[in-house]
Amino acid sequence: MKYDTFLTGDRPSGKLHLGHYAGSLKNRLRMQDECLKGYIMVADVQALSDNFASPEKVIKSVVEVTKDYIAVGINPFKITIFIQSLIPELAELTIYYMNMVSVSRLERNPTVKAEIKQKNYGESIPVGFLCYPISQVADITAFDANLVPVGDDQLPMIELTNEVVRRFNRLYDKEVLKEVTAVLSKTQRLIGIDGNAKASKSLGNAIFLADDASTIKDKVYSMFTDPDHIRVSDPGKVDGNVVFTYLDAFFENKEELEELKKHYKKGGLSDISLKSLLNKTLQDLISPIREKRESLKQDEMMDILITGSKIAREAAKQTLYNVKSAMGITYC
Ligand code: TRP
Repeated sequence: MKYDTFLTGDRPSGKLHLGHYAGSLKNRLRMQDECLKGYIMVADVQALSDNFASPEKVIKSVVEVTKDYIAVGINPFKITIFIQSLIPELAELTIYYMNMVSVSRLERNPTVKAEIKQKNYGESIPVGFLCYPISQVADITAFDANLVPVGDDQLPMIELTNEVVRRFNRLYDKEVLKEVTAVLSKTQRLIGIDGNAKASKSLGNAIFLADDASTIKDKVYSMFTDPDHIRVSDPGKVDGNVVFTYLDAFFENKEELEELKKHYKKGGLSDISLKSLLNKTLQDLISPIREKRESLKQDEMMDILITGSKIAREAAKQTLYNVKSAMGITYC
């Protein structure tokens, strides 16, 4: 791991929540210690591909997401945090890569397919949206990374990246681009507090890293448990029980958790005592993050992003140069 470079990113379309923490931020914190280098991209260009009518939301979220990174412990002196739109070389790489991907290949991407359905694009899919996976190939190849920590919904993009890399290297007969490996987090995707398959800002069912203590408490106490667990003495279900799913993700003492599960299944353990335990667990996790977050200034975040973008741009320039040289279009 010591010689690895990782690259990953998030669309800035709101603050980050516990789903991001369990699914990707924890993984990044580990990789920050284990890898030689790391890049985290605030993917504003990609966020605009489905928010072009409300750019203000994307722009505002750039700083918010950066605050979330720093508040959870990403070290900007070790990890290059940068803004996608400040690296125009990515757009240029995208143009070249577009020649290597067919429209039907893009239409088969399951993540894009699901998004098209969710956004009700019908027959009017914006070209920019359909092509964002190609722009993501540019993101992934531009910084000489070999590892890409992501959620499983991003696997189709990694697969596409490796197809483009192989195709490019074969066509121009040089090992210019590197294949990459996805690093999936150990925790499964976090469900929403309402039991929905995914915790997300748009579904309004997530606990945010910036939530205050009483909001967290209200959210925990509104969680679904087992609808058939009416009296404390009734036996309860653990599978599909939102409180247990969150305890699985965030309660560190696994032995105690096993005991609690047994007790709940047998009957005699109240939902309130479980919720109180989860509330304490989440307050202990989130309050230092929130406090750190509140101490962070907008200007400081911009400094981090501008410095990071300069460093990232140098790496992307080199890749673009290598790509153009391999194609023979350097002219001067
Ligand atoms: N597609 C990612 C998301 O929706 C964001 C992203 C953009 C990304 N470029 C990337 C992730 C490069 C990993 C690598 O969250």
